Amino acid sequence: MMPEQDRLLHLGLRFEPALAGRIVDGVLLGAQPLIVAWLVAMAALDPLSQTPCWCAITLVVIVVLRRLLIWPAGRHLYARAYSAGLRLRRAILQHLVRMPLGAFRSIDGGKLIQAISEDVLWLENHAAYTRPEITANAAAMAVCLAGAAIVWPLVGAVAIVTMIIGFALLALAQRMLLTGLDRRADSLAVAALVMQENAEGVAVLRTFVARGEIGDDFARSVLRLRDGAWRGVRRMTPIAVLFRMTIDLSAAFSVFVAVLALAQTEPASGADVVRLAMAALLVFSATVPARNFASLTAMLTLARLGRRNIEAILTNPTLPQGEEADVGTFGVTYRNVSLTYRSRSEPALSDVSFAVSQGQMIALVGASGSGKTTCLQMMMRFFEADAGEILIGGRSIRDFDSAALASMIAPVFQETLLFNDTIGNNIRIGRPSASEAEVADAARAAAMHDTIMGFADGYDTVVGALGGRLSGGERQRICIARAILKDAPIVILDEATSALDPENEEAIQQAVSALAAGRTLFVIAHNLHSVVGADRILVMDRGRLSASGRHEELLQTWPLYRQMWSRSMAGRDWSFSR
Ligand SMILES: Nc1ncnc2c1ncn2[C@@H]1O[C@H](COP(=O)(O)OP(=O)(O)OP(=O)(O)O)[C@@H](O)[C@H]1O
Ligand SMILES: [Mg+2]
Repeated sequence: MMPEQDRLLHLGLRFEPALAGRIVDGVLLGAQPLIVAWLVAMAALDPLSQTPCWCAITLVVIVVLRRLLIWPAGRHLYARAYSAGLRLRRAILQHLVRMPLGAFRSIDGGKLIQAISEDVLWLENHAAYTRPEITANAAAMAVCLAGAAIVWPLVGAVAIVTMIIGFALLALAQRMLLTGLDRRADSLAVAALVMQENAEGVAVLRTFVARGEIGDDFARSVLRLRDGAWRGVRRMTPIAVLFRMTIDLSAAFSVFVAVLALAQTEPASGADVVRLAMAALLVFSATVPARNFASLTAMLTLARLGRRNIEAILTNPTLPQGEEADVGTFGVTYRNVSLTYRSRSEPALSDVSFAVSQGQMIALVGASGSGKTTCLQMMMRFFEADAGEILIGGRSIRDFDSAALASMIAPVFQETLLFNDTIGNNIRIGRPSASEAEVADAARAAAMHDTIMGFADGYDTVVGALGGRLSGGERQRICIARAILKDAPIVILDEATSALDPENEEAIQQAVSALAAGRTLFVIAHNLHSVVGADRILVMDRGRLSASGRHEELLQTWPLYRQMWSRSMAGRDWSFSR
């Protein structure tokens, strides 16, 4: 059976009593003019009849009944649409997580924001409101037109044919709106991205960008947004006006044809006149729900557009998933691994091979840009190797289920990555089930607990976009606490102590030593002093692994390392000077 989120994406949740309720509602809506027509006929043809009285009572009952139907049906439909929407948003995120990072980065960020927020919203709106409204209005229209056709077939037939022409026009307008809105969506995505980049990079922009330039870029995207929307509206307005006119004219025209026909059959009987009045009332009543279709199809178009955008994301291939869940040992082997980033001509990694056993501490050193971060990120399948393979516990990382692979590795990235959430939740990301005490223990080990307790809201302090309300060192310590809490067998620390003062760095060195016990630990450090104790040091040079060994060995055998070491000794007490 198709999951609810897929049904939502395909513009239709499962048929259910609430929707059937809206059909009944539509039929009742259409029955109202039918009853009024009957009332008129009875009043005209048989003044003594009791029927008008009953008709009036029935009308009141219908009004009450419709309210009783619409309210619970609406509540139910909204609840279902929103829960399917939640699942769809999760499915999109899940898909993004399973895409190779390179492909993920090629998707326009604005489109992503739009898909998760606006596009899913239109689909929810469609399932909860537009679809039931279309159903109810169509039912009401059908009842009125069928009634008219029964009372006077010619009137019914003419009205139906002209309305079909009107709906054909509407379909045309919808197609035009789709193209116009598509362009608007592109501009909206650009505007959202520029907004986000400005918000995140505002500090950089303030310092480096001349006045006015930020505004220009944003203003241009907003201008395009306006133009796109305006173009869509301008193209479809005449057709929408034509649609409404055709619908209104359909009633007048059909009655006109009937009057002509009546004129032919002189003398017209009183009963014929009453029949004509009844038919006229019914076709005019049919135009009311019919006119609603103009705005309903506009919403339908937005839902279709949302579907198209989301499908464009979901059709991006994800990384092939393995089945393997666990290996038990966590030695790591790189076999002839090479990678060239798509946007580069030079390889970032060439033929890198090494093997480390579980529990070892490995340091990666080398000049900036030599491929250290790339090398370790590949272990998490951020990028797929062009050649070679990476094994954990003797199994290729491609054999693992992605969640299993993620659970094996606790990384602290070079750029601290915090979400705009509380400190507690940011630490808890690696292990959502962790208790408050466990979170505090991890923060203590990362020399961050006391600092957090100093904040007014403690662990509930919200860190701001990208952790912007914290200092660089605080952000880094939170990321370390997160890795400690995750308690994974492989730990990656990429420049994890670069933003720390000596006191905190020492505290963290201790924490890292504790963390490293029994774990396979990879450390990238520019400061060679912090890694002299490593079981093995890998020296990277322009994407190649140029040497590996312990500190003392490398000092003796490898000139590049000796050079790096002496430079790092010299840099120990360097200072700015003028
Ligand atoms: N996403 C990317 N797309 C394209 N090129 C990239 C990407 N990430 C890194 N590179 C390039 O790959 C090379 C290796 O980068 P990497 O980040 O692995 O170096 P690094 O040794 O970690 O440097 P640093 O010490 O400065 O952190 C560099 O030339 C870099 O410009
Ligand atoms: Mg790096």
